[in-house]
Amino acid sequence: MKELSIGGVPVSELADKYKTPLYVYDQKMIEDRIEEYLEHFKADGLSTEILYASKAFTCIHMLKIIKKKGLSLDTVSGGEIYTALKAGIDPKKIYFHGNNKSPEEIKFAIDSGIGTFIIDNKEEAEDIKRYMAGRDDKLDVMIRINPGIDAHTHKYIITANVDSKFGISMDEKDIIAETVKGLSSLDNISFSGFHIHIGSQIFEKDAFTAAIEKLCGFMKEMETEYGISCRAIDLGGGFGARYTDEDRPVPVKEMMDSILESLLRERKRHGLSFDKVMIEPGRSIVAEAGTTLYTVGYIKKTPHKKYIFVDGGMTDNIRPALYEAKYDADVANRMDEPKTDLVTVAGKCCESGDILIDGIDLQTAERGDILAVYTTGAYGYSMSMRYNQNGRPAVVFVKDGKDTEAVKRETYESMLINET
Ligand code: LLP
Repeated sequence: MKELSIGGVPVSELADKYKTPLYVYDQKMIEDRIEEYLEHFKADGLSTEILYASKAFTCIHMLKIIKKKGLSLDTVSGGEIYTALKAGIDPKKIYFHGNNKSPEEIKFAIDSGIGTFIIDNKEEAEDIKRYMAGRDDKLDVMIRINPGIDAHTHKYIITANVDSKFGISMDEKDIIAETVKGLSSLDNISFSGFHIHIGSQIFEKDAFTAAIEKLCGFMKEMETEYGISCRAIDLGGGFGARYTDEDRPVPVKEMMDSILESLLRERKRHGLSFDKVMIEPGRSIVAEAGTTLYTVGYIKKTPHKKYIFVDGGMTDNIRPALYEAKYDADVANRMDEPKTDLVTVAGKCCESGDILIDGIDLQTAERGDILAVYTTGAYGYSMSMRYNQNGRPAVVFVKDGKDTEAVKRETYESMLINET
């Protein structure tokens, strides 16, 4: 029986050693994807910076890869910042996002010396000013504006439509100008520019072109009407990944070329002076490098379905239940057998919606087989939970035939560690 290997290690070895369910990351795939971004997100006359969106998947091992490759980091909570600092990321390379940063998080971030706040609203700007007043250290700030662009994606993933909870609407120019001027009244706060993020799992280059056109037009207005100019712009993340054959992500080079070309064109057209651009890819760096291994348990036939039950489910991958996300899979110890058995893969949680794949042709599985679900590297572990007191799986990285446990499996005991 032919078996799947990841990073040179047969999956049965990983399953035996670490048990299942198990998140397995092909480290080389992550590194190669980062290299691709570094190589292609470059243009003459524009400095570029890539921020890895740590919400997609964060743990110290992952952040050490980010550090080694020299990327910056997009964080959205005190916890993400803390993890980044523990991984040795230079605080100056940390950007702090979020629509409702708590006073404690704001203080913690400033006291930790993080480089840039992406301010989401006017009240936050006031809080930051209050905390920065009289301090010797300096802080860069950007303001997140909402361009009102809907990239085609699931409604829970959309982040920039007009009623989104994120950012200040581009139409509220007076408020934006007031916020920028208020921040700039402090010597130790430096406003560098605007941030946008138009959605996630985006497959259209045009969505970014439209956003860039709108943003540059807006910046021109801010310059002429309010005398506010920007040194930098941050275009957010959202680049798509391939989950099933239906997905057609734009190759990194093509997407970056298109973004940089529109940016240079629009900068020239409006005579703008910004000389730096950032992007914040999360999913596209880690999704395809991640595979979840499960052990097949009971198999159940109903009048209309055949279920394969696995030892994980919505607790390690909430995306099918939350977004109707689709996944591809293999019975990993039967790779050479035909995929002719139409099944539904369901988890073990006490919830009818705990379905990982609703209808997929697979190799005929038997109890004890290993099921590999692909492209689980983004928003799987980071959105995992412990419903039914199912402990979170371990996270393992594999590279050149060597496996490294990055996060241990939660045990019965460790799940009770915070109970008083
Ligand atoms: N920057 C900002 C400001 C964001 O809000 C996000 C994602 C990113 C960057 C990274 O986007 P990416 O490159 O990973 O698409 N849980 C959902 C995705 C939510 C994305 C939220 N923001 C999912 O599992 O599909």
